[in-house]
Amino acid sequence: MNVGLSQPPENPSSLSPVSPSPVLDLNTSLHITVLLDEAVDALAIKPAGIYVDGTFGRGGHSRRILERLGEQGRLIALDRDIAAVAAASAIQDARFRIVHSPFAAIGEVLGDLGIGKVDGVLLDLGISSPQIDEGDRGFSFRFDGPLDMRMDQSRGQTAAQFIAEATEQQLTGVIKNYGEERFAKQIARAIVAARTGGDAITTTGQLAKIVAGAVPKIEPGQDPATRTFQALRIFINQELKELEVALPQCVSLLAAGGRLAVISFHSLEDRIVKRFIRGEQDRDDLPANFPVMAKDLPQPRMITVGKAIKPGASEIRRNPRSRSAVLRVAERTAVA
Ligand SMILES: C[S@@+](CC[C@H](N)C(=O)[O-])C[C@H]1O[C@@H](n2cnc3c(N)ncnc32)[C@H](O)[C@@H]1O
Repeated sequence: MNVGLSQPPENPSSLSPVSPSPVLDLNTSLHITVLLDEAVDALAIKPAGIYVDGTFGRGGHSRRILERLGEQGRLIALDRDIAAVAAASAIQDARFRIVHSPFAAIGEVLGDLGIGKVDGVLLDLGISSPQIDEGDRGFSFRFDGPLDMRMDQSRGQTAAQFIAEATEQQLTGVIKNYGEERFAKQIARAIVAARTGGDAITTTGQLAKIVAGAVPKIEPGQDPATRTFQALRIFINQELKELEVALPQCVSLLAAGGRLAVISFHSLEDRIVKRFIRGEQDRDDLPANFPVMAKDLPQPRMITVGKAIKPGASEIRRNPRSRSAVLRVAERTAVA
């Protein structure tokens, strides 16, 4: 974890904040923030509150949170992508701090900063447009680039390394479980055959070609490599694990009345968020028909706020990448 760039004041309340700057950062325009108003409204910002944006990206949500915070408020933003952390240097605001870290380390990051409780956490999952649109990052089959796919390029295994070393069974499991791909077996077999034939698979173009050749039936409107690329990206970045590790920490970190807002982009993520909130809300760890007075039942630590929110037609028209987004919101109760 690297704490970097906009440095926090020693005592934030003792410094007058720079007014939230509407500085136009070129990086901002590269990513269109999804459900901007909905997600920030969901946090029910208290002017003097402490908030965490666990997925800074290009800071669309962070900037809006800063606009709503007062002089005493603080915003801690995290991103595991060094390019996102660098983009955050455009925000010169004493109330703001960026930390290079996966959000699964949210508890440790806040502990290091001496912060016990926060009033809201936002997670806008998945990848940003600059990540997808830069061929060099290796996330997209639309460009031929190195098969990397790491959000944090300073550590971990690249997709090319995984593909070079994984067994056919491991490849099938990843492509099936994280890509929900019907033809996972055929794709894994084709990858192993290409590898065994002496071709190291090191570029997105090579992989996309192998997948296209292995998929017997191409779904109209979708590139045959879509699901395989999604699967590898989720696996390489351990995206579901990150979420599973972060959510319970958020419950412990939120002050009573604090809000958790999570934007998911596919059903695997959304299922984890939905089940987690439901599990916290129901807390039915007692057997059914257990003879106990209602007042003695375990009380929920989180309560769902409203229904799942999806982008409207006009947002989807403006930003087609928002079409699969789902925002879920929950509020921390006073129960310990
Ligand atoms: C959809 S973008 C966020 C966009 C941002 N809300 C905005 O308005 O610009 C997701 C960002 O979260 C980061 N990210 C994804 N998973 C992460 C994780 N587990 N820990 C930290 N950052 C993560 C990605 O690197 C990417 O920059």
